[in-house]
Amino acid sequence: MITVRIRPIAAEDLAIVEERIAFDWAAPEKHSERFTRQEKGEAVYLVAWNGNLPVGHLLLKWRGTADDPLAPDIEDCPDLEDLFVIPDYRSNGIGTRLLECAEQTAVERGNTRIGLGVGVDNPRARRFYLRLGYRETGTGRYETGGVYIDRDGSERSWTEVCVYLTKYLM
Ligand SMILES: CC(C)(COP(=O)(O)OP(=O)(O)OC[C@H]1O[C@@H](n2cnc3c(N)ncnc32)[C@H](O)[C@@H]1OP(=O)(O)O)[C@@H](O)C(=O)NCCC(=O)NCCS
Repeated sequence: MITVRIRPIAAEDLAIVEERIAFDWAAPEKHSERFTRQEKGEAVYLVAWNGNLPVGHLLLKWRGTADDPLAPDIEDCPDLEDLFVIPDYRSNGIGTRLLECAEQTAVERGNTRIGLGVGVDNPRARRFYLRLGYRETGTGRYETGGVYIDRDGSERSWTEVCVYLTKYLM
């Protein structure tokens, strides 16, 4: 059993998080950008630590989803983004712990609901969320996407078809 501690990222954590959790094109910029959002009070960037090693993360955004088609239907609902656990550490309950920690943080701020989008082509993640009490909102499928600069300096775009799930909190 792997034990982890979960806490919001701190300035002094950034270097090691950028070094150890660099599995996609957006690292390291995404970690520092999320730290800045946390500093502004817009989000909480939770990081799971195994000793001195960061092994997972989850972004909790207070303003809710920014995906336009959903905005009118899903109000007063903080949004979760980019739940991730390093492959070697998966299936040890760390993803569940990160979600529970985000839910607890939202409850402490007086929220009664929390939500997240999941790709329709990620059935394992969808089943994982359903098991933890998340349910489809009935708002249907929507496409989300963005533009980024890859490691070679070329502009690339991505799109993903998702459904939105929410959970009512105690
Ligand atoms: C989804 C994820 C965060 C779960 O983290 P975790 O620490 O393994 O979660 P837990 O140990 O609490 O639960 C494990 C369960 O997650 C589910 N799961 C969902 N997606 C999975 C994946 N890509 N790989 C492995 N398990 C996954 C499985 O049901 C698994 O159960 P199992 O161990 O019996 O197979 C992790 O698998 C991950 O980082 N996946 C890649 C990123 C991703 O798909 N994020 C979700 C985006 S919406």
